[in-house]
Amino acid sequence: MERLQKTIAKAGICSRRKAEELIAQGKVKVNGEIVTEMGIKVSGNDVIEVNGNLVEFQEKEYYVLNKPKSCICSNNDEKGRTAAIQYIDTKARIFTVGRLDYDTSGVLLCTNDGAFCNEMIHPKYHLPKIYKVNLQGILTEDDIKKLKKGIIFEKEKYSYAKVKNLTVDFVRNRCQFELTIYEGKNHQVKNMMKALGYEVRRLHRIQFGNIRVDDMAFGQYRRLKPYEVKELKRMAQEGRKQ
Ligand code: URA
Repeated sequence: MERLQKTIAKAGICSRRKAEELIAQGKVKVNGEIVTEMGIKVSGNDVIEVNGNLVEFQEKEYYVLNKPKSCICSNNDEKGRTAAIQYIDTKARIFTVGRLDYDTSGVLLCTNDGAFCNEMIHPKYHLPKIYKVNLQGILTEDDIKKLKKGIIFEKEKYSYAKVKNLTVDFVRNRCQFELTIYEGKNHQVKNMMKALGYEVRRLHRIQFGNIRVDDMAFGQYRRLKPYEVKELKRMAQEGRKQ
């Protein structure tokens, strides 16, 4: 529940102050009744009209999905492939916060809050994302130094990345490690590895900001808690200052 003027402003009709004027002028109806009293509270179930026009009002929803492989992050696909949002049971018009490749699994945020989405994916906000990378080949000390400095691949610059928990399988010439990046460019991890001459065998996002999917099965999802959303926004603002 929130104040009527805030709801009208959030729906993008006008500013909060203008909404107060409209309410005072008797131009706002809630459930068919004119409301002139300031400060009444409404919810997503109330029907609100301003100047006779219905206000499209959607409660904001925030989810984390443990994205399985073999689904896509756009909502329409010409090839008819499964969309990641199909795993989430909601009537809200949700979309994914940024993208993971078809064959990448792991933490994927979904919401109907466009402003939140922009804040999470805008390059200037630098939210940390941690990936578990399975690589064909073995990362060297020199590669790790290059990743720390940032890498250019096909004219695209990928900034500072951190390698942790490297384990090596010399017999099969493979390794596994956690890579933290602070941007979210297309195919970023795969391109960074390509730049070093390696191919990614498997990619799983362990963490996005403060959000993880440790105990969740692939395809499982949950709503984010309000404090988690708040913390994500705080982290984005914090990253902006760096
Ligand atoms: N980097 C990639 O290369 N692919 C992803 O899906 C995510 C990050």
